[in-house]
Amino acid sequence: MLVDRFGRVIDYLRISVTDHCNLNCIYCRPHSQIEHLSHAEILRYEEILEIIEAARELGIKKFRITGGEPLVRRGLLGFLKKLKEIDLDFSLTTNGILVSAMASDLSRAGLKKINISLDSLRADRFSRITRGGELSRVLEGIEKSQKFFSTVKINTVVMAGINDDEIDDFVAMAFNRGLQIRFIEFMDLCSGEDRFVSLKEVKKRLIAEWKLIPAAVQGSGPSDNYTNAGGKAVVGFITPRSEPFCCRCNRLRLTADGKLKACLASAQKLDIKAALRNGASREGLKALFQEAAQQKSQGHNFKFERIAMSSIGG
Ligand code: 5AD
Repeated sequence: MLVDRFGRVIDYLRISVTDHCNLNCIYCRPHSQIEHLSHAEILRYEEILEIIEAARELGIKKFRITGGEPLVRRGLLGFLKKLKEIDLDFSLTTNGILVSAMASDLSRAGLKKINISLDSLRADRFSRITRGGELSRVLEGIEKSQKFFSTVKINTVVMAGINDDEIDDFVAMAFNRGLQIRFIEFMDLCSGEDRFVSLKEVKKRLIAEWKLIPAAVQGSGPSDNYTNAGGKAVVGFITPRSEPFCCRCNRLRLTADGKLKACLASAQKLDIKAALRNGASREGLKALFQEAAQQKSQGHNFKFERIAMSSIGG
C-alpha cells in the first residue's frame, strides 16, 4: 500500500495524456503563445500502461484520464480499450467539445464515467472564457453523455465578475436534467488575476435557498455533496481555499511529460519517464511512487509556484 508521512492512503492517480487543448481558457492558459510539448517528450501509451501497472501493484485503484484535452490525443480510444481489457477503474475529464461526436466510441472503449468542464451557460460568455469555444457543442456533449455513461459530472470553476452570477442557473440545470454539478473554487495558478469566490459562503446560501440536504453518497474525492429531497441531482462544492481538504487527499498526478507530482501546487516532480526510458524495472517504478507519496506535504501552498494546469490536468 502507498501511505504518506501523514497516514494518508494514496489510491488515486490522475494521468494527463496531453498538454494540447482545443480550447484556450483564460484561467488555464493565460498566455496566448504557449509552448507545447514535443511528441518525444510526451509519454507513449505503452509507457503510461507500464506506470499504471506499477501503480496498481501499490494499491492505486482509481485512475482519471485528463489533459490538456484528452480527446484530442490521437489513439486515445485504443488506449482506453487497453484500460478496459485490464479491468481498470477509470474516468475521464474533458471540456466536452468532442464528446457528442465521440460518445458512442468512448462508451464502446469502456468509458463509464465522465466529467465535463463547463463554466458558463451563456454562449457569448462561454466563448470569451474559452477563447472561442462553442457552448452548444458542450451542451450536446452533456446530453449524449447522459445516454452513454453511468456517471456524468459537470465541473464549474466559479470566478468573480465572470460567472458568479450564474451559480443558480447551474443549480437549476442540475435539477432539471438530473445532473451532478460541482462548483470549484478558483485557484490562481497562472493567470495573475485572482478571481476567487469563497464557496463556503455560496454553499450556505444555496443550502438555504434550494433546500439542499447532504447527499447520501459523499464519494472519496474532495467534493462536499448535496441533493434535494428525492432528487437525482447532486450539487457539490470543491473548496481548496476556503475549506482545504488536504487531510483527505488520496492522490498523485502524472503529467503529460512523465513527471510524478505529489500535489497540484508543489514544485517538486519526479521524472518517471526518464526512469522508464533508462530501463527501470517495475520495482524501480514503484520506488518512485513511494518517493512521490513521501513528498506529499500536510497542506498545499498555492502561492509557491506558477504552474501550467494544461500539462497537469487539474
Ligand atoms: N482553478 C480551479 N479549477 C481549475 N481547473 C482548471 N484550472 C483551474 C483553476 N485555475 C479545473 C477545470 C477542470 C478541472 C479538472 O480543473 O475546470 O474542470
